Amino acid sequence: MLLHHAAWPEVEAYLKHCKGIIIPIGSTEQHGPNGLVGTDAICPEVIAAEAGADSGFLVGPTFNVGIAQHHLGFPGSMTLRPSTMIAALNDWIESLTRHGIDRIYFLNGHGGNIATIQAAFAEFYANFSLDAAPCPVQLKSRNWWELPGVMDLARELFPVGEGQHATASEVSVTYYAHPSAIKSVAMSPKIAPVGGFTDAADYRRNFPDGRIGSDPSQATPEKGERLVSTAKRALIGELTQFFGAPPRRAAAE
Ligand code: NI
Repeated sequence: MLLHHAAWPEVEAYLKHCKGIIIPIGSTEQHGPNGLVGTDAICPEVIAAEAGADSGFLVGPTFNVGIAQHHLGFPGSMTLRPSTMIAALNDWIESLTRHGIDRIYFLNGHGGNIATIQAAFAEFYANFSLDAAPCPVQLKSRNWWELPGVMDLARELFPVGEGQHATASEVSVTYYAHPSAIKSVAMSPKIAPVGGFTDAADYRRNFPDGRIGSDPSQATPEKGERLVSTAKRALIGELTQFFGAPPRRAAAE
């Protein structure tokens, strides 16, 4: 169930059976010459939406701007400062837990968010630890590409040129989710360079078209569909462990 498509009595009824919610979390940043600026938000969003539709688990709005200062050399990229994101995530968490939600599963689509999500969790837990009050809430963060089976499938689909940024698999997932946004662009060089970076100017100097190590011209919606299907199955398994039985199954029993 999508929170944005539910009316409040439906949310109230859901919370009688399940106290868990999935929050897709991503970024708004360049993803190379053929990748969508919304890639890192779209990937966890579509996987969470399909898992929520199959299981009945509640899926919240996508936290869709993250830590992307290093991409600001490319038009369209947006970032939060880490301190802003820590504060915003805590407001999201406290709004949800106010209603009795006690398990929040963040499905992350952007490696650059990982450290700040963990810092936001530490900020939340610190409130309880400093008050010597036990925290009734558990927070979890998971990168979608690390769900069981996803990396194996990505290696099978893209033995060469999967890469580290604007990967062939993430672009495939967005093409499956939004086929009207598919772009056909020749890559030059075929495989992008690899290496490190500091700020936005350094990133653009090292990776002129935005990609790192990838050849996303291999991306297709069919490959994206397989990745989403594998990720969705694994996600429902993890959510069932974290939240308890899916509401759909609970209702049938
Ligand atoms: Ni990405």
